[in-house]
Formats: sequence, C-alpha cells, structure tokens
Amino acid sequence: MSLFAKLYDPLMLPLEQSILKKWRRELLQKVRGDVLEIGVGTGRNLPFYDTSVRWWGIEPHSEMRRLAEQRLKSVSYQAELVQGGAEYLPFPDAHFDHVVSTLVLCSVKDPKQALKEIERVLRPDGRFLALEHVRIDDLRWVGRLQDSFTPLWSRLADGCHLNRPTEAWVAERFRLEWVKSYVAGGVVMFAARKIM
Ligand SMILES: C[S@@+](CC[C@H](N)C(=O)[O-])C[C@H]1O[C@@H](n2cnc3c(N)ncnc32)[C@H](O)[C@@H]1O
Repeated sequence: MSLFAKLYDPLMLPLEQSILKKWRRELLQKVRGDVLEIGVGTGRNLPFYDTSVRWWGIEPHSEMRRLAEQRLKSVSYQAELVQGGAEYLPFPDAHFDHVVSTLVLCSVKDPKQALKEIERVLRPDGRFLALEHVRIDDLRWVGRLQDSFTPLWSRLADGCHLNRPTEAWVAERFRLEWVKSYVAGGVVMFAARKIM
C-alpha cells in the first residue's frame, strides 16, 4: 500500500475528530436522490449520507479505493464506487441531484476541467456541494506562505495544493447559493447551482 493511502486516516484522525466530522455532517445532512462523490478517498463521508440516497463514487487511487470499499460494506444505501478522475466523469449529462467534493479540488490535476464535468453531470436543479481548503487572500503573508509551501507539500501529500482559489473558479461556472468560511477563510464550505 502506498504511504499516502496508509497514513491518510491515522494522520487525519485528530482533524477528523475535532472538526472534519462536524463539517462533513453539516455539508451532507440534506443530500438526497442520485449523488456522485468525487475523490472519495478512504470513504470518510460515507457514514453521513441519508440512507435513501443512491450513491456513486469515483476515486483514481486504487489503494484509497480499497479502503473506501471496506467502509462501503457498512452502509445501507445503494452504492457503487468506480475508478477514475473528476476530469472525465464516466456518467451521462444531467444525471445527478448532487455532486459532492471534500478536500479534493486541491489535488485534482486539472480543476477547471473537473468543474466543467461536474456541471455537465448535474441535473438543471442539481447542487454541487463542497468543503475545500483554499488560498487565504485576506491575510497576504499567509497566502504567500501557502504559495511557498505548496511545491514541497504537493510532493508530500500526493499533489495537494495549499493555494488554490477554488471558490473563485467555482464562481466562474456556477451560481454560489451559500458559502461558509472557516479558519480565517482557509476552508470554505459551499453549495453551488448551475447557471441556467
Ligand atoms: C485529501 S484526499 C480527500 C479524500 C476524501 N474526499 C476526504 O474528504 O477525506 C484527496 C483525494 O482526491 C483524490 N484525487 C486526486 N486526484 C483526483 C482526480 N483527478 N479526480 C478525483 N479524485 C482525485 C485522491 O486520490 C484522494 O483520495
């Protein structure tokens, strides 16, 4: 198993227990219908979905997928996990009521292409729900620090970028319905809809 997949859950545990669990619950509490989760990782969101959902997940990393498959054994909703990246989603147009992304757009190689695909697979009244860490623009020295650390961090953390302006990229393609900011704006949670 790769070091990243092996260490992901143990290293994230303190964050998971202290805050991520609460954010995941908050983001996912109203998710219903046909749901696509991109970059499922080890399946940390799985316990927070309503049992009525029909869930599809996509994850490129085979070892992360294997760990998520273990977690999938304990869910009672309909679920299917497939191999792949968010840049090319193997699903028809206008197929999902919700697309979910948590801590993924920081790592996707081509985030703008992923957003285009998310928009394509969402139904006209569908929602894109996300929890992502982003560049902190309001505190300029913090933003610059994020810029400086990103090349090293990206090598250590499987392509993760500390300094992406994800919310701004989302706003280019979607209508942001609501946005919540945490950690001085370094973490955003939002719901976005297609622009019709
Ligand atoms: C920091 S982990 C987050 C995992 C999970 N979403 C969570 O909230 O714990 C980032 C995940 O994004 C996945 N990933 C990387 N590139 C991706 C891509 N192009 N499309 C979809 N997922 C990707 C990684 O394999 C990894 O599982």
